[in-house]
Amino acid sequence: MPNHLIAPHGGALTNPLVDDARAAELREASRDWPSWDVTGRQLCDLELILNGGFSPLEGFMGRESYERVLDDMRLSDGTLWPMPITLDVPAELAGTLSAGDTLALRDPEGVMVAALHVEDVWTPDREREAEAVFGSSTGAALEEHPAVRYLMERAHPVYVGGRVEGLQHPVHYDFRMLRLTPAETRTRFARLGWRKVVAFQTRNPMHRAHQELTLRAAKEVGASLLIHPVVGMTKPGDVDHYTRVRCYQALLPTYPKNTAMLSLLPLAMRMGGPREALWHAIIRKNYGCTHLIVGRDHAGPGSDRAGTPFYGPYDAQELLQEQQDELGIRMVPFKLMVYAPEHGTYYPADEVPDGVETVNISGTEQRRRLQLGIELPSWFTFPDVEKELRKSSPPRHRQGFTVFFTGLSGAGKSTIANALMVKLLEMGGRPVTLLDGDIVRRHLSSELGFSKEHRDINIRRIGFVASEITKNGGIAICAPIAPYDAVRQEVRAMIQPLGGYVLVHVSTPLEVCEQRDRKGLYAKARAGIIKGFTGISDPYEEPTDAELVIDTTGISPEEAAHQVILYLEKEGFVGRGE
Ligand code: PPS
Repeated sequence: MPNHLIAPHGGALTNPLVDDARAAELREASRDWPSWDVTGRQLCDLELILNGGFSPLEGFMGRESYERVLDDMRLSDGTLWPMPITLDVPAELAGTLSAGDTLALRDPEGVMVAALHVEDVWTPDREREAEAVFGSSTGAALEEHPAVRYLMERAHPVYVGGRVEGLQHPVHYDFRMLRLTPAETRTRFARLGWRKVVAFQTRNPMHRAHQELTLRAAKEVGASLLIHPVVGMTKPGDVDHYTRVRCYQALLPTYPKNTAMLSLLPLAMRMGGPREALWHAIIRKNYGCTHLIVGRDHAGPGSDRAGTPFYGPYDAQELLQEQQDELGIRMVPFKLMVYAPEHGTYYPADEVPDGVETVNISGTEQRRRLQLGIELPSWFTFPDVEKELRKSSPPRHRQGFTVFFTGLSGAGKSTIANALMVKLLEMGGRPVTLLDGDIVRRHLSSELGFSKEHRDINIRRIGFVASEITKNGGIAICAPIAPYDAVRQEVRAMIQPLGGYVLVHVSTPLEVCEQRDRKGLYAKARAGIIKGFTGISDPYEEPTDAELVIDTTGISPEEAAHQVILYLEKEGFVGRGE
């Protein structure tokens, strides 16, 4: 390793990957070990442990380091480290483990990626962890912080710490040439003669403002640039990494030759603001970078529901400022870049000449324009970047969507659903699938009955199929009773990020449904022949989140279907450009 590059954190890159012979030995021995299929987040952490990105960590933290990281951002040996890197497992598994045991860590396909030599097994105080790592003085509701939510609701209750021996890097099939390890970026920097490298961390597509900013930052400190986007886990709702990486690739040729490099970081972000910024700096130091660009609210999760930001806008910069001498990697603080149309140029927000007007396009406005197919101005982005964004965010009239009818038996769901299907087929442009209650119960859920548990399984299956259809640009029309709110919410959460979702409550009152009693089921339910019949002897939880509420008492199916079409037109899902 050429020695003119910045030293890794703690002095040397860790390399817990073992050779083939040892890997074979571990694989064989693992037959007698307990196994743990790591979660998505743990897999990201493990990848960075194995590739040296988390140097000097040699495994998942033991209790002493964990406690010290919480208290004063240091590992047990005193090295600066702000973020707990812990392996959380269920109590049942933890109960079988004690110090000296070995645990096989497997990826989602069951492939053994590493062996963990158990040193510590303990139940953490999660509230203390949340407060110590993610708390701030802004008064924001800490329980709404995404990482705190994860910690409280999704993380397993017991931590297992210990050194790992890696058998192989986690497998990736996408962008393999761009997934450089710290040793690889260091080799490239050395070959290119780059001694000073400024890293740019991002979880968003990059536009002209980012390009200006990174160019300025590099110039300011006389460094080359590593565009180092996070492709592990970012904030839910972010643009997917496939699209983002294609955008970065489209942007790269706009930099002067041989001054910028793109590499992907398999990090699972915590959105931990100041502590996370420090962590990002340590990781980039391991990758051989001498500087890190840190902006306003770096790695912050935004605000809580009441609108209080979790961190002050410059908290992250302040913490890095305090710690950078000890760290070695330095911060390049960045200001928001704004465009001055009359000068045809970008300025850092605090350097705009007096009286000069500036413009900017917010993230929300970007999404709106993409959704409605409205052009992004050329001062804002590069045509090739926009082309990539458009490919994966087609305007609404080309996106898939789901119309989900819910209501009592006999409320008119199927009739409206059929009428709607025909109207959409008449309009053309997208395939339409009808997932009517009866059809689903015949083809997907034939073994299920009508207990709460079975109904929930049924609705989840419908939701899954509808989400696939929506993701692939089709139209799914669902018409089950779906009497329970919680599972309806699950379905919404599954589908909404993939396209449109319209919940229609067919609210025809029970008396009317019972009077119609087309299938004679209400009579049977009243007579006790059918048990647990929705509305009679089983609950129906009325939705409070329906986009449309339609009572079919006095209107025809045609009119009801038309109401849905009007709504879809208003929202831009049908009509435009067709
Ligand atoms: S659920 O609750 O969403 O899983 O129900 P779903 O798949 O839509 O099935 C409802 C149809 O099954 C018939 N059926 C019953 N409905 C409600 N409760 C009980 N116990 C029951 N037993 C049979 C009924 O015909 C429903 O069809 P629709 O079209 O709604 O009338």
